[in-house]
Amino acid sequence: MDNPQLHVMQQADASRTDGSRAEAPRADAHSGGNGHNPPPAPSPTPGALPSAPPSVSAAVERARNFGNSLLRPPQPMPRLPLAAAGERRYAQIVGWGMQVPDKVITNQDLEQIVDTTDDWIRDRTGIEERHVAADPRETSATLGAAAARKALEVADVHPSRVNVIMCATSSPEHTFPSTGSIIQDLIGADNAGAFDLSAACSGFVYALSLARGMILAGDAEYILVVGTETLSRIVDWTDRGTCVLFGDGAGAVLVAASDVPGGVLAVELGSDGSGGNTLILPAGGSAMPASLETVSGGNHYIKMDGKAVFRFATKVMAEATQKVVARAGLTLDDVDLVVPHQANRRIIENSVLRQLKIPAEKCFINVQKYGNTSTASIPIALCEAIEEGKVKPGDKLVFVGFGAGLTWAACALEWSVPVGKRPEDNWWQQTRRQATYQAAAYRSMWKKAVRRVYDMLPTDPEASPAPPPSREPGK
Ligand SMILES: CC(C)(COP(=O)(O)OP(=O)(O)OC[C@H]1O[C@@H](n2cnc3c(N)ncnc32)[C@H](O)[C@@H]1OP(=O)(O)O)[C@@H](O)C(=O)NCCC(=O)NCCS
Repeated sequence: MDNPQLHVMQQADASRTDGSRAEAPRADAHSGGNGHNPPPAPSPTPGALPSAPPSVSAAVERARNFGNSLLRPPQPMPRLPLAAAGERRYAQIVGWGMQVPDKVITNQDLEQIVDTTDDWIRDRTGIEERHVAADPRETSATLGAAAARKALEVADVHPSRVNVIMCATSSPEHTFPSTGSIIQDLIGADNAGAFDLSAACSGFVYALSLARGMILAGDAEYILVVGTETLSRIVDWTDRGTCVLFGDGAGAVLVAASDVPGGVLAVELGSDGSGGNTLILPAGGSAMPASLETVSGGNHYIKMDGKAVFRFATKVMAEATQKVVARAGLTLDDVDLVVPHQANRRIIENSVLRQLKIPAEKCFINVQKYGNTSTASIPIALCEAIEEGKVKPGDKLVFVGFGAGLTWAACALEWSVPVGKRPEDNWWQQTRRQATYQAAAYRSMWKKAVRRVYDMLPTDPEASPAPPPSREPGK
């Protein structure tokens, strides 16, 4: 195969074209027509009285129809039918992107805030600096959307072709709506379903395993898996035990259906809820709703038993890696690169390097630059590993993470797409891309405006008017 990435795209395109053809007759069947002529209007019931005058004026009626047409959900893209028996599909990562806030906080900066030292933080964690979303307009969704756009650009896939957005996050914008839905709106992925996945720092690998499942089942062609965090907003900046560890950022991958063998080969997921209290954000959920007391007690901040998490992490990172490698039919010697969750250099060294005896050059570490960015840490590390030329087609990779829950997750992959620099977009491609995002922003504003107009209408446009009481003739 000359260009597997191209082939992956072409295969997905071909599938979509086939899907469109397959879907057409079904649309006719639903409408009851022949596909060209509208179904005949129902004939009036003999003897029925003319219907009562409309309860809303003609102008309001027109506004209602206009509004309905704007608020109607976009037609879903035709989906590929389930792969025929014996036909294999593979879930390949074809795009990747990351975004971190500009503001950097060094260990020296932290020395001014809490009782800590640069030496202690470097020695105990390996962290030197982290990025923090200082601008309040920078949120988990905006960072995630920026990373998602970059992943789409690498793959040269239009947002409208994404079927699902899975957003793994430990610092969602809200309990609901999901940060995934906000990202969907921001990037204009009008044909995508979207949701958040909560498995703390293991969330990205959990989402990737779900994306693989949907693609192998034939339910999706393109899935955006996003890990995004603004942990600085839920960290207690007076608690030296936690504030030195975390950072903000986002990473995303675009997973595509392909007939090129490889991609995500195997997954290993785990949970031990008995350890939930060792790493927890106590307040704000249904068990401890936000109140003056929870805020004054600082229960809306991350609480952690560092030692317990450390013990758990070193154990499960090694075990999960071993299991997923075996499940993929590989040995540890076959692995070209481990991309572990970047929580603490010592955890990675104790588990991946010492317990599994994987050489340091086969384990990617960038915790020194970003701290622990939870769900974003693995996709950010992947982007940097690619940038540094540490990933090439044919390589066997392992992503392995752990986090609150307690949870852990690993997946083994065979990398299949070229990672060289894409040629710079020409002015037309750049303009078209900008126009796409601008159009998404205007579309979103327009839909919000239409909803406001709806609110001002004297009647609920969605409520169908009650049918007039039928009277028998002569009564
Ligand atoms: C948090 C962590 C770095 C602490 O390292 P540690 O070696 O276990 O440190 P300890 O908790 O034993 O503390 C050792 C001493 O350093 C002190 N200390 C803790 N944080 C400090 C800081 N930021 N600066 C200076 N001293 C600090 C402690 O108070 C303690 O002092 P004491 O001996 O006088 O009581 C480590 O336990 C860890 O990384 N755990 C995993 C956390 C994690 O990954 N969480 C996210 C999971 S996704």
